[in-house]
Amino acid sequence: MSLTIIDGGANTPLAEAIAGTLAAPLSRRIIGRFPDGEAQIQLIDPVADDDVVIIQPTGLPPDAHLIELLLLADAARRGGAARVTAVIPYFGYARQDHDGGRPIAAALAARLIESAGVEAVITLDLHSRVVESSFRVPVRNVSAVQLLAERLRPLLPDDAVIVAPDLGAVKLAERYAGALELPVAFVRKERVTGAAVEAHGITGDVRGRVPVIVDDMISTGGTIVAAARACIGAGARADVFVSATHGLLVGDASARLQELPLRALFVTDSIVAPQAVPQRLERVTVAGLLACEIADVRSARSLPSERAPSRTEEESYVSRQS
Ligand code: R5P
Repeated sequence: MSLTIIDGGANTPLAEAIAGTLAAPLSRRIIGRFPDGEAQIQLIDPVADDDVVIIQPTGLPPDAHLIELLLLADAARRGGAARVTAVIPYFGYARQDHDGGRPIAAALAARLIESAGVEAVITLDLHSRVVESSFRVPVRNVSAVQLLAERLRPLLPDDAVIVAPDLGAVKLAERYAGALELPVAFVRKERVTGAAVEAHGITGDVRGRVPVIVDDMISTGGTIVAAARACIGAGARADVFVSATHGLLVGDASARLQELPLRALFVTDSIVAPQAVPQRLERVTVAGLLACEIADVRSARSLPSERAPSRTEEESYVSRQS
């Protein structure tokens, strides 16, 4: 089955890099707008009987990029694609995963993606397992932790401590800690508004240590800034490392982060960079990781469901790169 890769338009540099790694040209398509603002999609190259892979992070802005993904998948299915896989490096609408007057947005997004004809999903460091469990089609949630940890490793002193900026990030922090053989602390965070968070103390020993704050994403930067200040307030060294898979960096996030005593800030290229980024920010590409996963899906031909990322797999990818 021929591989057809379609760039959904939300992260063309990443789509090009993945296609380059897989030695497959990007399929031609038109993504435009009708005069009223409605998304207008057209596949130019035929996709009949092809194994179609659409690369589209659904963020910045989430609504438009989600709709484009849905329309592209529908067009591919109607064009006779043998299978449609969505590679969603950043999965938008993953954070509203509670009820009580609020939608379970991840479940709705999953239903929409499936109903557009997507039969498999590859994504990266999902915010919540609610996303995975909302899909009936197989989901591969790969992780950039090992890649990011390898970039941190040569920079960190022996007395560094991995810091989860909230309870939700503890599992992720434990994975960094395992990779880097460092202890873990976590911040007790309260979100006051969408952009404002408060830290109410730290569990774990950060005194005299270099804090390495890790999270799945940086949006407004409020969580990282509050965590860094809490660490320094608790006696950590004013020498802060930050690592997050998704660098959304919305609004004045860059300016807020710039005020921290940052030694290094790592994010991946899961989402297109905003114009202004903080000094000391470095993007680590996940193109190879995702290309590897696409190739694996193609060779496996069928995906096991509920498949959690395995460290062995990440390590084998990293060792292949080094
Ligand atoms: C929250 O649970 C997430 O893991 C991130 O901590 C949060 O989305 C980051 O948002 P912000 O940068 O706006 O604080």
